[in-house]
Amino acid sequence: MYDSNPTLTGLVKKIDEAKQGEVFFKEKPAPEGDDEGTGKHFYIESYGCQMNFSDSEIVASILSEVGYRPTRHLETADLILVNTCSIREKAEETVRQRLRVFDKMKRQRPGTMVGVLGCMAERLKSKFLEEEKLVDLVIGPDAYRDLPNLVAGAEEGERGVNVFLSREETYADISPLRLDSNGVTAFISIMRGCDNMCSFCVVPFTRGRERSRDCFSIVTEAQDLYERGYREVTLLGQNVDSYKWQNPENEQVVNFAQLLEMVAKVHPDLRVRFSTSHPKDITDEVLHTIARYENICKYIHLPVQSGNSAVLDRMNRTYDRAWYMERVQAIYRIIPECAISSDIIAGFCGEQEHEHQDTVSMVEWANYSMSYMFCYSERPGTMAARKYEDDVPEEVKKCRLQEIVDKQSEVSLRNNKADIGKTFKVLIEGDSKKSDREFKGRNSQNKMMVFPKVNNLKPGNYVWVKVTGATSATLMGEVSFP
Ligand code: 5AD
Ligand code: SF4
Repeated sequence: MYDSNPTLTGLVKKIDEAKQGEVFFKEKPAPEGDDEGTGKHFYIESYGCQMNFSDSEIVASILSEVGYRPTRHLETADLILVNTCSIREKAEETVRQRLRVFDKMKRQRPGTMVGVLGCMAERLKSKFLEEEKLVDLVIGPDAYRDLPNLVAGAEEGERGVNVFLSREETYADISPLRLDSNGVTAFISIMRGCDNMCSFCVVPFTRGRERSRDCFSIVTEAQDLYERGYREVTLLGQNVDSYKWQNPENEQVVNFAQLLEMVAKVHPDLRVRFSTSHPKDITDEVLHTIARYENICKYIHLPVQSGNSAVLDRMNRTYDRAWYMERVQAIYRIIPECAISSDIIAGFCGEQEHEHQDTVSMVEWANYSMSYMFCYSERPGTMAARKYEDDVPEEVKKCRLQEIVDKQSEVSLRNNKADIGKTFKVLIEGDSKKSDREFKGRNSQNKMMVFPKVNNLKPGNYVWVKVTGATSATLMGEVSFP
């Protein structure tokens, strides 16, 4: 799930990594606990996957316990943090540029501390302190509880590193401080790490072994969010289908289907989403659970990565084209109204033209509502970097990517146009980007819908909207009744 996958907004293109780095607090409602007046302040920028955004809220909670308050103003921050992504080289480059900007600010305001969090911290470890000399703190994804210590040291001028990877840490007891919140939708992290070892992926090295969070703490967090007015939660993990938590009291094991059901039962008006699913692990039991509960959204992010079996084998995805197609058929059979989206990599090691064409045809066949599409970027230390040559020329990668993007745009547009005339239940998230006379919200299939405001409706309300027009990214409509 990546970094990709913010609330899976927008549609098609996810090529320019720079655009993925969203800055918390920009033109956004004040974060919880924002208090410009007193005490020390931290500013945090997050890049990459939803998990990073979710982790930043855990970091914010830990810092607020020791008196640091969030601020949206870089200029007034005592502590500047950047939560980083290593998934592709470009993502790391964006962060390096930001660090140079922060370094300049530091020189103008001595005493300001800068910290690197997340995957780049884990991957590069103390290199940040030794070679780049741009930062005071380097903290990996499993070491956030040590932040107060390290910050206290940095306040005394000591530079600190903690990149210890844990087999147990899930931050289950920490109640995240919602930073970038619209007050309607929130993320809940249900597991950490990844044991899959896809050959292209750096995540197993930066986020460590897979571990699942206590299901009761997840349900409590969902209940708390509902009581505070939230109406949608997204359960997050690199591979949610392998969620497995054993109750130490009675040894009972809870799997993902059972967890989904527990969260769905919190309240019928609390929508449940999840990301990311792995084609090898998604079970019919999960699909039947989705079908049974109206409030579990009919939307599955099921990254294919490549449509060709030989490439999938080199990617170590542990399924082939036929297996993937069978899973897609099962989804459409068990949940006929379900939308499916994907992640796709163009130009993986050794990819031939006919193998690439299998990916293009998969976009058409699976009828994805959207995809996140990327050129392959070799990551040091991964199995692919050790075993295969990154031999597809950059221009060929770009050309293939463009072909996939064009195919996805065509499929998305067709898919969205087929919705014209249909009426969907939409959860209102806020004003549309273009006009404060319009609301935006999503339907169960995760499609963004925009429609004129009508009396008394507000964010957090459900409303029925009839689709009157469509682009490849958005459905336009008007409030209606089913
Ligand atoms: N190069 C390009 N894309 C990658 N992804 C993961 N690793 C790489 C890489 N080395 C993509 C995959 C994954 C998404 C989050 O990022 O498609 O599903
Ligand atoms: Fe996802 Fe595979 Fe990377 Fe795990 S190793 S995070 S399943 S792409």
